[in-house]
Amino acid sequence: MLKACPDYLSGQMLCDHFQVSRTAVWKVMNQLKNEGYHIESVPNRGYRLIQDTDILHEDELQQAVRGKWAGCRVIYKKITGSTNLDAAAAAGELPHGAVIVADEQTAGRGRRGRNWISEPQGNIYFSLLLKPDFLPEKASMVTLIMALAVAKAIEIVVKLPAMIKWPNDIVIEGKKVCGILTELRAEPDLIHHIVIGVGINAHQKNFEGEALTYATSIDRETGGFVNRTELLAEIWAQFETLYEEFEKTLDLSSLQEEYNGRLVDLGQKVRILDPKGEYTALSGGIDAAGQLQVAREDGSRESIYAGEVSVRGVYGYV
Ligand code: BTN
Repeated sequence: MLKACPDYLSGQMLCDHFQVSRTAVWKVMNQLKNEGYHIESVPNRGYRLIQDTDILHEDELQQAVRGKWAGCRVIYKKITGSTNLDAAAAAGELPHGAVIVADEQTAGRGRRGRNWISEPQGNIYFSLLLKPDFLPEKASMVTLIMALAVAKAIEIVVKLPAMIKWPNDIVIEGKKVCGILTELRAEPDLIHHIVIGVGINAHQKNFEGEALTYATSIDRETGGFVNRTELLAEIWAQFETLYEEFEKTLDLSSLQEEYNGRLVDLGQKVRILDPKGEYTALSGGIDAAGQLQVAREDGSRESIYAGEVSVRGVYGYV
């Protein structure tokens, strides 16, 4: 009611509406203030929500979910070690499509064993749990699907072109705003669960050291103030649609054109950082299995699998 009302809501009106005492209303207002909402209370006028903050709240997140299963259960934590670890630990009790969202992580995990610094700077840290019945060899494709979902959602919500750096970084104006880490628990022929972890720089203002050259946040690029709940709900809705498309064929045949259309370095010269030896190549798009097609300088073609190789721009990040 506070959100829907631009003016003051009278305390008496709230008491009548919910059939509770003044003290009960006052207690709830204090609870909301403790959760970070800015609520002004003025004697004889009532309560007013000052909508200048972007609070993540479990109830609001759950209400924003539009899909059938992606986000069917939302768990919010103000602070945690890693949402990926939380989702894996609770996988037995949580349904397919459950998400864990945090405002801060103390042990955020990045790809290739790196850390993902997850300070409480208004960024987004979430993990989506999947319990699919396809073979483990298909699992890496869900990361590309999430990359596409995030890029589309950013574009819809903040109206800025969002590109993908294969396999799963989201890039705005040539700088990284989002990274994705997919982890799974499986036997050779059976997936127990997949956790797709997504870190998005949303409100972060300052970047230090090396990050200055390759990282940015959505707010920095738009000059605005992205609503994280709206963005999360859009990502989950986009993911659900794309994933259901993928499930029809269990490959990326119907998504590859759209994915390739967002590749930041399509048709450009890139450095392929292969542990067996670096080389320069022309970047093509992905194939139906999500592998990047590149042409070496001698004309030979390679299919690159994300697990072992990464791609850089010839002069820097892209
Ligand atoms: C990358 O290295 O680019 C991937 C970073 C993934 C970070 C996210 S934040 C939410 C989830 N929990 C983690 O510990 N990591 C992922």
